[in-house]
Amino acid sequence: MPEIELTFDGAPLPARPGQTVGAALTAAGVASWRTTAKKGRPRGLFCGIGVCFDCLITADGVPNQRACITPVRDGMVLETGSGESA
Ligand code: FES
Repeated sequence: MPEIELTFDGAPLPARPGQTVGAALTAAGVASWRTTAKKGRPRGLFCGIGVCFDCLITADGVPNQRACITPVRDGMVLETGSGESA
């Protein structure tokens, strides 16, 4: 399956059509893409099914998107953020 390319904090991030943002980040070895608001602890995938909100990320300028259920799109711009969720 042909790869598509996203950017993650300005760096190229390869992905495959049909993947979620969380899957693409994990496949690239990225385990954390935000920190919690109160204690600055790293967060990434936890439940993987859209329930816990640990995986929030800014996608195409829209903050607080759940990476585990957001599908990748060619040219998508992903940015880390500080968390609104504990
Ligand atoms: S990992 Fe739980 S909502 Fe995304």
